[in-house]
This record gives sequence, structure tokens and C-alpha cells, in this order.
Amino acid sequence: MAKPIVDAEYLKEIEKARRDLRALISSKNCAPIMLRLAWHDAGTYDAKTKTGGPNGSIRNEEEYSHGANNGLKIALDFCEAVKSKHPKITYADLYQLAGYVAVEVTGGPSIDFVPGRKDSKVSPKEGRLPDAKQGVPHLKEVFYRMGLSNRDIVALSGGHTLGRAHPERSGFDGPWTKEPLKFDNSYFVELLNDESEGLLKLPTDKALLDDSEFRRYVELYAKDEEAFFKDYATSHKKLSELGFTPTSPKTVKDSTVLVQSAVGVAVAAAVVVLSYMYEVRKRSK
Ligand code: HEM
Repeated sequence: MAKPIVDAEYLKEIEKARRDLRALISSKNCAPIMLRLAWHDAGTYDAKTKTGGPNGSIRNEEEYSHGANNGLKIALDFCEAVKSKHPKITYADLYQLAGYVAVEVTGGPSIDFVPGRKDSKVSPKEGRLPDAKQGVPHLKEVFYRMGLSNRDIVALSGGHTLGRAHPERSGFDGPWTKEPLKFDNSYFVELLNDESEGLLKLPTDKALLDDSEFRRYVELYAKDEEAFFKDYATSHKKLSELGFTPTSPKTVKDSTVLVQSAVGVAVAAAVVVLSYMYEVRKRSK
């Protein structure tokens, strides 16, 4: 599918959709599932084959029916209500915008949103998202495939500061933190706390303590929330832009100026040709 044209009108629609998403997420308390939707659309990216990624393909039944996406139809339907009000916006942009808004409205960092992702109807094969029952080598394999780093793995795992697991969706149960609707660094604090009773630690969460480089970041983020927010914002932006080359506002502006100049030159040329023809006709009379 074609890339959307990111002009002034598109940017206006993005701002309107952002406001609608803020209201929807606050009224439905659905920040966690919206963040999970954005991550699952983006997290299928394969840097080698340049397939998957934040391209809206999770809306295809074939993909949202993958086991890893259990429950995400709820978030897709929430987004559909916003899409019907702003049909110009691509699904790919909408899902990533929803992820940014989810983080922001729950107290997390604000991330600069760059629109222009194109939609794809092609879904990747099942199995690209991480399996929560595995450990360090699996986490590295999956995230390196996307082109992400060890720091990204730890910072992004901090997304589990929001929400909970549902037995009927994943087989796991419970929240990671005491306040699952607040975006803060408590995921890392609880991960290092052996007595965090009633809170969930997936095997892939615990794996962050098994690798020395991962662990260094866990310890840093547990004691320094600002460092976590800064790295989280960088890694989330990277995740949401995998395989996407934004059209810079400068390029948009430049091409507008270019079109205006071309029209100017064409009009001037027409005037010269017409005056010449007028002169020739006058002389031949
Ligand atoms: C590192 C590998 C990851 C694994 C194995 C993993 C696995 C899981 C599982 C099993 C659930 C429970 C789903 C349910 O039962 O409803 C879950 C929920 C969630 N995940 Fe992850 N996840 C990972 C990374 C991430 C990342 C990178 C983010 C975002 C940046 C994220 C955000 C969330 C959120 C917000 C929820 C809660 C959803 C809700 O409350 O409905 N996860 N994840």
C-alpha cells in the first residue's frame, strides 16, 4: 500500500486522533492493552528481510489470531472507533500513536511522534514475537533480529510497568507492579525485590537478571527513574519506527517550494511564448 502524504491536513488529523485516543484511553483505562497492541504490531520486524514491523498488519485476522496476540482484538476495536473518525490516518500510524499516548497518559515520557507509516496487508508467519517461557538467548535472538540492542531489551521490558497477564490470554496471571496503571520504574524495583508477593515475574523478566549487561541496566533503572524514562523513550521510538523512513518536514516543505517554483517557471514561459506569437502575427499582417 502507498505511503500516506504527510501534509498539513494529515498532521491536523494526527493531533485530533491524539486527543481522541487520550480521552478513550482515560475513560476505558485501556493504556496497557493499547501499548501491547503497538508493541505487537512493531515487534514482528525482521531487519534482514525488511518484513513485518509497525505496518498495521496486526489488523488482519490471520495475524491477530496468532497465539501471542490473544486478547488484542479488544485494542484493535478501540482503535477502529478512532480510525472511523480519522480515516486518512493509516492503521500503522494509529497503532503507534496509541502506544505513545498510552505511555504519556499514565505518567511516562512524552515521545516525539513522526507520522507517515504505510499499511501492509501482508502478515508475517506466526512465531516472531518473544516466548515468555524462554530465557536470555531467545530474548537476544528475537530483539537482535529486529535490529535492537541489549539496552533496548531491558528498557522496553519496562513496558511491563503497565498492565497485567490474563490466564485466558497467555496462561500467566497478575500484574508486575502494585500500580499497573502508572508508568514508572517500579517494574525494575520489583524485579530486584525477592519478596514482591502477588506480583508476576515471567521467565523472560527474570532473564534480565541472568545476563550481566542486562542486569546492569535493571539496577540502573531501579535506582534512577530519569535514566529509565530517557532510555525507554529512545527505545520505544526506535521500536515504533522499525523499517520506516520518515519524510522529514523539511522534505515536505522543500517539495512544496519546488512545485510552486515549477508552476512559476511554466507561467513565465507561457507568457514569453504568447508574446512572441503575438509579435510574429502582428508583423505578418
Ligand atoms: C521481552 C519480551 C516480552 C515478553 C515475553 C512479553 C510477554 C507478555 C505476556 C505473556 C503478557 C501477558 C498477556 C496477557 O495475558 O494479557 C504481556 C503483557 C503486556 N506486555 Fe509484554 N512481553 C514482552 C515485552 C513487552 C514490551 C517490549 C512491551 C512494551 C514496550 C510490553 C508491554 C506489555 C503490556 C503493557 C502488557 C499488559 C497488557 C494488558 O494489561 O492487557 N511487553 N507481555
